[in-house]
Amino acid sequence: MTWWREAVVYQVYVRSFADSDGDGVGDLDGVRSRLGYLELLGVDALWLTPFYTSPMADHGYDVADPRDVDPVFGDLAAFDRLVTAAHEHGLRVLVDLVPNHTSDRHEWFRAALDAAPGSPERARYHFRPGRGPDGDEPPNNWSSVFGGPAWTRVSDGEWYLHLFATGQPDLNWTNPEVWADLEKTLRFWLDRGVDGFRIDVAHGMSKPEGLPDSVAAVRTGLLTGGRDGDPRFDDEGVHDVHRMIRAVVDHYPGRVTVGEISVQDNARFGRYLRPDELHLGFNSRLLQAPFTATAVRRAVEQSLASTAAVSATPTWALGSHDVSRPVTRYGGGEQGTWRARAMALLTLALPGTVVVYNGEELGLPDAEIPDEALQDPQWERSGHTQRGRDGFRVPVPWEGGAPGYGFTTGVPWLPMPDGYGRLTVAEQLEDTRSSLSLLRRAVELRRTHPGFTGTDVEWFGAPVGCLAFRRTGSTLVCALNTSTDVVPLPPGDLLLSSRSLDDDLLPPDTAAWLA
Ligand code: GLC
Repeated sequence: MTWWREAVVYQVYVRSFADSDGDGVGDLDGVRSRLGYLELLGVDALWLTPFYTSPMADHGYDVADPRDVDPVFGDLAAFDRLVTAAHEHGLRVLVDLVPNHTSDRHEWFRAALDAAPGSPERARYHFRPGRGPDGDEPPNNWSSVFGGPAWTRVSDGEWYLHLFATGQPDLNWTNPEVWADLEKTLRFWLDRGVDGFRIDVAHGMSKPEGLPDSVAAVRTGLLTGGRDGDPRFDDEGVHDVHRMIRAVVDHYPGRVTVGEISVQDNARFGRYLRPDELHLGFNSRLLQAPFTATAVRRAVEQSLASTAAVSATPTWALGSHDVSRPVTRYGGGEQGTWRARAMALLTLALPGTVVVYNGEELGLPDAEIPDEALQDPQWERSGHTQRGRDGFRVPVPWEGGAPGYGFTTGVPWLPMPDGYGRLTVAEQLEDTRSSLSLLRRAVELRRTHPGFTGTDVEWFGAPVGCLAFRRTGSTLVCALNTSTDVVPLPPGDLLLSSRSLDDDLLPPDTAAWLA
């Protein structure tokens, strides 16, 4: 069962989707209350970002107990209710798995702090003595993805490794207990009926023996890790971890794994998608491509090349909880909105799995968050030079004209801007020209029109600043105009366009599907 090969997956950032109890933070019962909306949108599955017990140093990506629900999000009964209801709505459920690190409040890490250097408790993480005569320099020169050194010193003088925030100590993947525990977690959620996993930092986990210095003090961000000469990521041993995960998941038919793979080289990326490893993998090529036909085409070609070598299915995303929203990335304002709509049609025409991040269907821009309300650890760790990811994690506006917007009856955990009123789900459902209506129609066509077949892409000649392609063996053509000129549409009957067209012309910042 490979339902995921042409699926549209909707990423639910649980904190920001729907709040059922008025504490200002989204929760699992909130998600359940909005399943009708996801069904209406026509998506096949939802991916829930971490809802596990956590002190929220990185908003849930710091997991203190991977087999329980944090009270702010509900409890296991709420999770079971959600899975049952989602399945009744014909929606599959993927959950996030965070195998690279735990929270510093995980019982293992607390035990490690209480234990002595060299103890089995410490051996589940990476504890090392420091360098320098007094051991007061970090054991190596690695930096944290969020800024600053990747090491923190504990009271007895040893240091521990954390590639992300201080509250996210990296697990030691040479320790069999770490393997056994992940296997237990996989089965725990599979037995509760989940349809798969999104795997956080899938290029992490394994570390090179001896933790050697980086050649240069590379300090890469979330999307650019795993470059040549960066020993922190993409270590050979990680593939054994994926083989173990796959072996467990294969006992449960129809389940899927999708990895966050921040590896730039196509061949190295493809290795994660070999038949006994992950089913799917995110890359960041489209997320990083500016809105030009050349860059977009290159991102698509590179992504296809990275999966073709291993006959894997490509995965496309224009946004996530880690990157600036498409509307803002493409220039903001009305132009940013048109461009984001055009890119949505482009991704939905491509072969493979498409992931839509909550709020993207509404054309939400990044929100301006005042300094004092910022919560992302990137803000503190960068010494207030990087504002972090809060601007694209603002809660979803459902209805009404004032903050809260049907997301919560309380005070939202991040301030929701004034002026979201015209962007709410309720407003956009009423308007056939809205971003939401466009996405609904596109998803529907993708599911029902016979043109969405073929696993490769054929490019056509196109005017400067434009591109056009069809899927091999299909008659469906997607054309995109990133230039400043109006250009003729390719031949064919118009199926859908990202804004209304005059005659047979494709205006700037627009995409069209023709059959
Ligand atoms: C992934 C997540 C990101 C998180 C990081 C550390 O990149 O997408 O949100 O901060 O891993 O877990």
